[in-house]
Amino acid sequence: MRIKRLLGILAAGTALLLAAAAPAQTIKVGVINSYSGPFATLGDLMDKGMKLYMKQNADKLPPGVKIELIIRDDGGPNPDKAKQLAQELIVRDKVQFITGVVFTPNALAIAPLTQEAKVPFFIGNAGTSVITERSPYIARFSFTLWQSSYPLGAWASRRFKNAYIAVSDFAPGHDSEAAFERGFTEGGGKIIGKVRIPLANPDFVPFMQRVKDAKPDVLMAFTPAGRQATQIMKAYGDLGLDKAGIKFIGPGDITTDEELPNMGDVPLGVITMHHYSAAATRPANKAFIAAWKKEYGEKSWPSFMSVGQWDAMDAIYYVIREQKGKVNPDRTMALVKKYKNPNSPRGPIAIDPETRDIIQNEYMREVKKVGGVLANVEFETFEQVKDPWKELKK
Ligand code: PHB
Repeated sequence: MRIKRLLGILAAGTALLLAAAAPAQTIKVGVINSYSGPFATLGDLMDKGMKLYMKQNADKLPPGVKIELIIRDDGGPNPDKAKQLAQELIVRDKVQFITGVVFTPNALAIAPLTQEAKVPFFIGNAGTSVITERSPYIARFSFTLWQSSYPLGAWASRRFKNAYIAVSDFAPGHDSEAAFERGFTEGGGKIIGKVRIPLANPDFVPFMQRVKDAKPDVLMAFTPAGRQATQIMKAYGDLGLDKAGIKFIGPGDITTDEELPNMGDVPLGVITMHHYSAAATRPANKAFIAAWKKEYGEKSWPSFMSVGQWDAMDAIYYVIREQKGKVNPDRTMALVKKYKNPNSPRGPIAIDPETRDIIQNEYMREVKKVGGVLANVEFETFEQVKDPWKELKK
């Protein structure tokens, strides 16, 4: 009798132990980014931000829960390719999240699939305002061009009488143009010329010549971050627009932190509005920069894209944690509407529960030399800006 009872207790104990050591659970995250072609540095910066986040926060997932990244290369602005990759990730790999995506046309191509298949899509970059309206399963952790270019227009209208606008000819460029024009003209400024520059292999020189000939007080420009930012800066310097007294301003894409070391001294004095500067001195950013340099080398700089993908990953961890590893798409979207982080490297951020778009500070910055290198030095803060495009059409 006694032995039987003992065996019974042992069996019950074993069952309890087995239940406690829940089987390992893997959550599949599909990552679509631009890892090759002329914009490959952008995908790389986002990838590095994502992987650094995962390394630093390995202990923030529930016990037994693991993330498997399934990484795909869209090769740049290429909606058909992005759509095909998203389809494969959803149907074949059965991912529970999609994240990444530098380019708006790609995000727009993926959007309807995320709605049909109910796969939450946490955007790490693509910044055209309308994207979040294309699927209820999208939340954005990056920015909109309206967030930077609209307040920039208002700021510039208090300092300059007339402006020329030059933007890359695709959706975020069109947003930047419309937003700046609205902010600038509402403040009494006059737009004296506009030009749209092809996205693929542009030669900036003839466009800069047109701007120079028009003699505006200020040029506001948007190109994608990365090498094109350096190319337009170089054309501005080579044609002597700075010496002709034409001030250069824009969203922070044109003085993106990772390219500043390639730009010579031309950007000194360029003013931009943006949500992230690698030179920001808030403690969360200093810790982020220190971790980045330790991981990727003293000379390496993260950009706003690295931080966008870092924060998108933080939100993925948050919704997984809140659901104890058993993720459901509708529950995920309900949770992400409550997402807040007072301590992102860029400052406090939150997801707007009405729009699933990011709310964040926008900073006015001037390019200066700090410790011998160029840096975007913040000098004025616009607190907790919601996407103005959505606010203005309410
Ligand atoms: C976009 O496609 O939305 C995009 C790409 C590059 C940027 C900003 C926005 O620097």
